[in-house]
Amino acid sequence: MHVLILGGDGFCGWPTALHLSSRGWDVTIVDNLSRRNIDNELEAESLTPIRPAGQRLAAWQELTGREIAFHRFDVAENYHRLLTLLSETKPDASCISPSSAPRPTP
Ligand SMILES: NC(=O)c1ccc[n+]([C@@H]2O[C@H](COP(=O)([O-])OP(=O)(O)OC[C@H]3O[C@@H](n4cnc5c(N)ncnc54)[C@H](O)[C@@H]3O)[C@@H](O)[C@H]2O)c1
Repeated sequence: MHVLILGGDGFCGWPTALHLSSRGWDVTIVDNLSRRNIDNELEAESLTPIRPAGQRLAAWQELTGREIAFHRFDVAENYHRLLTLLSETKPDASCISPSSAPRPTP
């Protein structure tokens, strides 16, 4: 089974990715890393260190032998890239992290 997790680098998405990967799902994450950029702009840090996405993915592969695919792009702006990814990977399920869901502009 294959799952696509939009916002998969975030608070909800990352543990979801690890949980499903540990249960044998093939996991693909899409994230534009905007959450990390906001922290950088605000010069704010999490109380518990959050490693760069590449390091987390590599650590997971080293620990479990399982690969989590990662695509960095904005799902609100790159519709065709998302569509291509969906048609190429044909996921059985998708999860949308709440904060990555497109919002109407005021
Ligand atoms: N330490 C904590 O207690 C803590 C930490 C983070 C979040 N939270 C709470 O949990 C809530 C839910 O967490 P969450 O996982 O939805 O939030 P999140 O901000 O942690 O994760 C959302 C992810 O989506 C990505 N993203 C946002 N817009 C995107 C876009 N257009 N395209 C691609 N990727 C995009 C972000 O980079 C981020 O990685 C948060 O709103 C917050 O209230 C709590």
